[in-house]
Amino acid sequence: MNQFLRSRPRRNRKSEVIRSFHRETHLGPEHFIYPLFVHEEGNEAVPIASMPGCFRHTSESLLAEVEAALAVGVGSVVLFPKVPEDRKTKSAEECFNPEGLVPRLIRSLKQRWPELCVVTDVALDPYSSDGHDGLVAPDGRVLNDETVALLCMQALSQAEAGADVIAPSDMMDGRVAAIRGALDGAGYSEVSILSYCAKYASAFYGPFRDALDSAPRGGDKKTYQMDPANAREALREVALDEAEGADMLMVKPAGPYLDVIRRVREATTLPIAAYQVSGEYACLKAAAQQGWLDERAVVLESLISIRRAGADVILSYFAKQAAIWLREGR
Ligand code: PBG
Repeated sequence: MNQFLRSRPRRNRKSEVIRSFHRETHLGPEHFIYPLFVHEEGNEAVPIASMPGCFRHTSESLLAEVEAALAVGVGSVVLFPKVPEDRKTKSAEECFNPEGLVPRLIRSLKQRWPELCVVTDVALDPYSSDGHDGLVAPDGRVLNDETVALLCMQALSQAEAGADVIAPSDMMDGRVAAIRGALDGAGYSEVSILSYCAKYASAFYGPFRDALDSAPRGGDKKTYQMDPANAREALREVALDEAEGADMLMVKPAGPYLDVIRRVREATTLPIAAYQVSGEYACLKAAAQQGWLDERAVVLESLISIRRAGADVILSYFAKQAAIWLREGR
């Protein structure tokens, strides 16, 4: 007899019951944060061309979408605003306007659903006429320390409005410590920081920048976001953000960076988030629309893979839909 046939791994795959005995990774609605775009130009939800199924929500359609997400067990959202062109400035001061769109929406969400976990993005790009995450000097450099001072004010305006988790996505150095200090100094010691720790300078953000009209007007983001060629460098960011007081760390994008998620998982005991970004969503959607891939199957496979790599929680535009599919059973 073929000696290798004494051990038959297929016996452990012979039925769904046996397969579920030893399934190593689980995916449920509790593993999602649902990113939502919002705007205040008119009172219609506007479909986003490069992200079929996603919209720039009005305050009303946002509430309806959050209600639908909550109904299928997704208890957390993150908000991304599209700021009208005439409110974008070089110094991006709209980012800390306490009456700005994001603080107003945080208040209305938390008033209606105190248990909803509201995550907010901290970075200047939606508010900046330069389309960069930081302030841009006349010579084109993105200024670090001057930007961090503004990010602290932005974080404070969000915490004051009731945000549960502040998520700085700007990749400036030292911002986690500065934001922690600002929050604690103002009495918001219970507000968490989810740091975009290993955020890469990725072309997969294209559809997001279409959605918010937030592409950099000059240059690129390579002087602050990480080089896609690097994984070791992510561990340096992990060490810093952990020391600076981050509560949770994020790797972004997710699917093309599963090795980074795994390495970060092994380097920290903090919870890890991974962001399945707009371009990952667009790829899967486009192939599904062509009939080239089975949407439900590939989306759930992409999400379980991100969990298997080591992510605790996933930011995904598929969050609500995936939760519905998971409810229906595989
Ligand atoms: C900006 C920000 C970006 C995303 C989240 N926050 C874009 C960028 O860095 O240019 C991308 C998310 C996505 O593509 O889904 N601070």
